[in-house]
Amino acid sequence: MACPPPFTVDTNRTNCYSPVRLLSHTQATALLKDPREKGHMTSILRCPVCGEALARTAHSYHCSNKHTFDIARQGYANFHLVNRKNSREPGDSQEMIESRRRFLDLGLYNRVSDGINGTVASLLHDAGQGGALSLLDAGCGEGFYLKRLKGSLADGRADRGPIDFYGVDVSKAAVRKATQRDRTMNWFVASIIDLPFMTSSLDVILNIFSPADFTEFSRILGRNGRLVIASPGPRHLNGLREVIYPVAREHARSEKAEQAGGHFSLITASRITYQLALDDRSKIMDLLAMTPYFWNIGLDTRSKVEALDRLALDVDVDIRVFGKKEGSI
Ligand SMILES: C[S@@+](CC[C@H](N)C(=O)[O-])C[C@H]1O[C@@H](n2cnc3c(N)ncnc32)[C@H](O)[C@@H]1O
Ligand SMILES: [Zn+2]
Repeated sequence: MACPPPFTVDTNRTNCYSPVRLLSHTQATALLKDPREKGHMTSILRCPVCGEALARTAHSYHCSNKHTFDIARQGYANFHLVNRKNSREPGDSQEMIESRRRFLDLGLYNRVSDGINGTVASLLHDAGQGGALSLLDAGCGEGFYLKRLKGSLADGRADRGPIDFYGVDVSKAAVRKATQRDRTMNWFVASIIDLPFMTSSLDVILNIFSPADFTEFSRILGRNGRLVIASPGPRHLNGLREVIYPVAREHARSEKAEQAGGHFSLITASRITYQLALDDRSKIMDLLAMTPYFWNIGLDTRSKVEALDRLALDVDVDIRVFGKKEGSI
C-alpha cells in the first residue's frame, strides 16, 4: 500500500499512520528553501576558535586568522577543541561503534532509515533550484543513516541541485568508522553544542537517537530550514526493556518535542513500528551496546541479557519535522 509522503508505513500492519500535520505537504516544502539566503556565502563552515569562515585545501581547513585543522588520512577533520572536551574520548566508544556497525548492517533498522529517508525526500521534493542544499546529521554515529539517505535521495534528484552532506559526531571512533561508508561526504568530529557551521547555513538537520542542542540547531538552521528528529517511541525496545527492568517503563514520549519547543514548531509527526526477532546472543549484545542501557545497567542485569539466545522486541520510532519559530535566531 503506497502512503503519500511524509506518511510512513507501519511495516508490520501495512497501514499508514496519520501524522500530526500542521502544514500541508506543499506548505511544508515551499517553506524549506529560500534561494536568496545563502547566496553570499563562500563557505558554510565556521572556525571553532574565532568564528571566521573556513576554507578547504587538499589537506586542511583554515580560516583568515590562520587557525588550521588537518584532514586526517581517513578523510575527516576534528573541530572539537581540546579545551572544550569534558573527557579524553567523548561520545560512543570504539566497542559501541563496532557493535552499532555490525547490528545496523544486518538491515534490521532499514525500515527506520527508510522512514527517515521518505520524510526528508518529501521535504526536499521541490527544493534545490537555488543552489546546493546543505544537510547535516548531528550525532551521526558510524554513518548508517546518512549514507542510506544519500543513496535514496540520489535516485530522484537528477534534475535538481546537488546536496552537500555533513555528518558530525563527538566520538572520533564513530567519525572514523563513518568515513568508511562514504569518503565523498563531509565528516567532522565536533560537539552538537558547538557546531562548525555559520549561522543560518543549513537547510536540513537530522538528529537520530542522539543528544540535541536546540539553541545551536536554531542558530545554524536557515530561516526556512527543517529539523528532523527521530527518537524512541513509547514501545521502543520493549522486550529488551522487560528483561532489564522488572517493571517495564514507557519512554517519556514528548520530552524531545517539548525541549525543541523553545525554538521550533512541530510541522509533521509520523511513527514507525514493527517487531524484531533476534535469534542469536551476539546480535542481542550488539543491540544492547547501541542503547543507553549499556551504560546504566549493573553486572547482574548484563548477565541476564547475556544469557538470552533469542529475543522478541518492538521497534517504535517517532519521526518529527520541525521548523524554526518566528523570531528564533
Ligand atoms: C545512540 S547514538 C546514535 C548514533 C546514530 N545517529 C545512529 O542512530 O546510529 C548517539 C550518538 O551521539 C553521539 N554524541 C553524544 N554526545 C554528543 C555530543 N555532545 N555531540 C555530538 N555527538 C554526540 C555519540 O557519540 C553517538 O554516536
Ligand atoms: Zn579561526
